[in-house]
Amino acid sequence: MTVNNNGFTLNDGTVLPSIGLGTIGIDGDQGTFEILNALNLGYRLIDTSTNYNNEGIVGEAVRRSALPREEILVSAKLPGSHHEYDKAFIFIQESLRRTGLKYFDKYLIHWPNPKDDKYLEAWKALVDAQKQGLIRTIGVSNFEPEHLENIIEETGVTPATNQVERHPYFNNKRMVEENKKRGILTEAWSPFGRGYLNDVLENATIKEIADKYDKTPAQIILNWNYQAGVFAIPKSSNPTHQRENINSTSFELDSEDISKIDSLDKGEAGRVEGQDPYEYHEYV
Ligand SMILES: NC(=O)c1ccc[n+]([C@@H]2O[C@H](COP(=O)([O-])OP(=O)(O)OC[C@H]3O[C@@H](n4cnc5c(N)ncnc54)[C@H](OP(=O)(O)O)[C@@H]3O)[C@@H](O)[C@H]2O)c1
Repeated sequence: MTVNNNGFTLNDGTVLPSIGLGTIGIDGDQGTFEILNALNLGYRLIDTSTNYNNEGIVGEAVRRSALPREEILVSAKLPGSHHEYDKAFIFIQESLRRTGLKYFDKYLIHWPNPKDDKYLEAWKALVDAQKQGLIRTIGVSNFEPEHLENIIEETGVTPATNQVERHPYFNNKRMVEENKKRGILTEAWSPFGRGYLNDVLENATIKEIADKYDKTPAQIILNWNYQAGVFAIPKSSNPTHQRENINSTSFELDSEDISKIDSLDKGEAGRVEGQDPYEYHEYV
């Protein structure tokens, strides 16, 4: 995994842009316009999931965009209800039908659900779905080192990305390092604490740094991710915010300011909804 001015090169050679679009809460016909607006502003990766209830409009926006299909990356996720091998395989096909797309550019196991202990089966299904051309890049989400080791050892296939919670109150440096050690790109979910799950966009330290660089708090947080070699997927429905967010990687934070942001970490208490992947299980 390498970082350059244009984004991130994954361990399978795929290139991701520097910022992607999260889509929780982007839905319905209005959502189609919000995604189209983002594509017009230069976004090239859309992150979706079955439980965001918007796979249909994500596909619709991709089809209605003037951009060629191959210039847009669509990333989706397998729910915990379908970790068994056969179920996973069929679910991927169904999910593709919902989007109306022929392939997913990236597909992740949403949560490991370790107490069910079926994520290895799910991973084998992703490996085979990739071989059959249904998915270009395969990865995971919310995987801990033990889960990563298990799937890598059993299949010999290393995920290209691991999408985990990361924002200044829960910087998750441990998983950023664990991923890096294995050549896996870290993706940051809820980089702003979903806007209401925490007050990180209002944090005084972040605001002070934003003033210093003449940027917004959102841009500071996204740049902090980018400089750490982390791919962030902020959600925004608002055209002004979308523009701000995609224009957040062309300046450099100095190391002192990065340390100040790092020091806002609250450890486990900083998780937005207390979702420890060893304990938390998600089925949809
Ligand atoms: N893998 C997983 O388990 C998992 C879990 C959670 C999330 N995710 C993914 O990560 C994505 C991002 O996380 P999230 O949706 O939880 O929330 P988020 O990106 O942390 O925050 C979104 C909130 O921030 C606001 N916002 C965005 N840009 C802003 C800006 N420049 N200035 C001020 N406010 C701004 C948005 O409002 P406006 O819309 O009004 O701009 C929205 O209220 C999700 O959408 C989803 O794709 C994955």
